[in-house]
Amino acid sequence: METLREAGVVVTGGGGGIGAALARRFAAEGARVVVNDLDADKAAAVAAEIGGSAVPGDASGVVGPAREALGGRVDVFCANAGVASEGGPEAPDDVWDASWDVNVKAHVRAARELVPGWLEDGGGGRFISTVSAAGLLTMVGSAPYSVTKHAAYAFAEWLSVTYRHRGISVHAVCPQGVRTDMLRATGPTGELVLAPTAIEPEAVADAVLDAVAADRFLVLPHPETAGQYAVRAAEPDRWLGSMNRLQQKLEQTLGTDAKTDPEVAR
Ligand SMILES: NC(=O)c1ccc[n+]([C@@H]2O[C@H](COP(=O)([O-])OP(=O)(O)OC[C@H]3O[C@@H](n4cnc5c(N)ncnc54)[C@H](O)[C@@H]3O)[C@@H](O)[C@H]2O)c1
Repeated sequence: METLREAGVVVTGGGGGIGAALARRFAAEGARVVVNDLDADKAAAVAAEIGGSAVPGDASGVVGPAREALGGRVDVFCANAGVASEGGPEAPDDVWDASWDVNVKAHVRAARELVPGWLEDGGGGRFISTVSAAGLLTMVGSAPYSVTKHAAYAFAEWLSVTYRHRGISVHAVCPQGVRTDMLRATGPTGELVLAPTAIEPEAVADAVLDAVAADRFLVLPHPETAGQYAVRAAEPDRWLGSMNRLQQKLEQTLGTDAKTDPEVAR
């Protein structure tokens, strides 16, 4: 894409946090932005602020109505809506199902609707997936989040591998802590693991726009993630040991091992 001016952009989960920052940033570039969110009031507020359109509802069903709102074509799709939860195997099925549904299957469903049109038009579509550093590394205290974010990363990677020669651009955005409602809701885990190096959502949006300009797949708003990812690949036991020390620190801080105790269902 030569320019974002007049581009049709969709941001799921755009009513707050990283999504709202992306919506504002794309609008500032002159794009026509559709703001989706489960929370209709939040979607409407951000859309009104940036002169965009609101398409409230579940991220899984946004492509049709968004395309209509944009006059027929989506140029950039930001698969940003996500859910975070605590727990391991003891987390109930509805928690696992919601994680798969929002963090992964919503991306698949969107791509299913977008890719054929992008290919017919000779390419030019851009799929921006807000993954997480948890998709490259892990998130202590949350198996559903870690597992589904790995899957989201794998899906973005697969799209890029498959369609990059046909003009479709894909980006995987993998921040560590970002100061949003999601981080605030993580309580002591977030305080210990994410808060010390957390950045503002606007910094994530800036990193995304830089990556779009450079057509770079991997977006690392925390540059240190690259080194950690390299250690994970090259020295898995060293990396697992350091993550386990973090897990132990978390257990000491919480004064309980509830997060890993199968007797304690959340
Ligand atoms: N905050 C962080 O530290 C952090 C770090 C890495 C990645 N992320 C990822 O960034 C993305 C955005 O998170 P955030 O931190 O801005 O969180 P947030 O809670 O501030 O915003 C998420 C928005 O998504 C909406 N939403 C949730 N489920 C939805 C659905 N099914 N359909 C449509 N909208 C839905 C929520 O209503 C909310 O407005 C998520 O995918 C998250 O996993 C966040």
